[in-house]
Amino acid sequence: MPSQSLRLRGKKSHRLNDEVRFIRSWLEKPLSMGAVTPSSRILARTMARYVEPSVAGPIIELGPGTGPVTEALVQAGVEPSRLVLVEFNPAFCKILRARYPDATLVQGDAYSLRRLLETLLLQPAAAVVSGLPLVTKPIRMRLRLIRDAFDLMLPGAPFVQFTYSVASPLPRRLGGFSVEASERIWMNIPPARVWVYRKT
Ligand SMILES: C[S@@+](CC[C@H](N)C(=O)[O-])C[C@H]1O[C@@H](n2cnc3c(N)ncnc32)[C@H](O)[C@@H]1O
Repeated sequence: MPSQSLRLRGKKSHRLNDEVRFIRSWLEKPLSMGAVTPSSRILARTMARYVEPSVAGPIIELGPGTGPVTEALVQAGVEPSRLVLVEFNPAFCKILRARYPDATLVQGDAYSLRRLLETLLLQPAAAVVSGLPLVTKPIRMRLRLIRDAFDLMLPGAPFVQFTYSVASPLPRRLGGFSVEASERIWMNIPPARVWVYRKT
């Protein structure tokens, strides 16, 4: 059995490799990456805190990247087999497939959520957790995404989104959903906030 220091070293090199892959992808496609580095553990844990593992149903993650939020969800008690990961970067899909073999991985465009998932889900989702860089898309696309997500979820289920921008990526004036926000998370590059939307 590996010693604790070996395991720690393994985790650190894992994280370093992820950061290198992330920066490479950001250099290739800065707008669709929306970040230069994977989310910090504290941001990932804050996202996971809004998901209640005891509520039945799949948990959809949009834009999981190298999987820091996925890991936080699993650590919070979510069975990997309940996860539906939607990621369009093939290199990240390869990593996710190796790390979460029991999760359902969908390689595709999260903005076509309805088409991707409506026949795949056997029951309504308990939550949608998103790392997509929403603010790089026009408002009408963001709105269509959240409406499609609400249609796939249980009533009142959370759509959890992080963003680096100060304002909510889904303006309150659009209506039809409640809005909740976390404190600003300074231990992340750059600092971020988690927003939670529920259909009203
Ligand atoms: C800001 S990164 C977040 C990655 C990870 N969730 C994290 O917190 O470190 C955005 C991720 O969304 C993915 N992505 C961007 N647009 C997408 C789309 N339309 N469909 C699926 N994935 C997308 C990117 O490939 C990247 O993995």
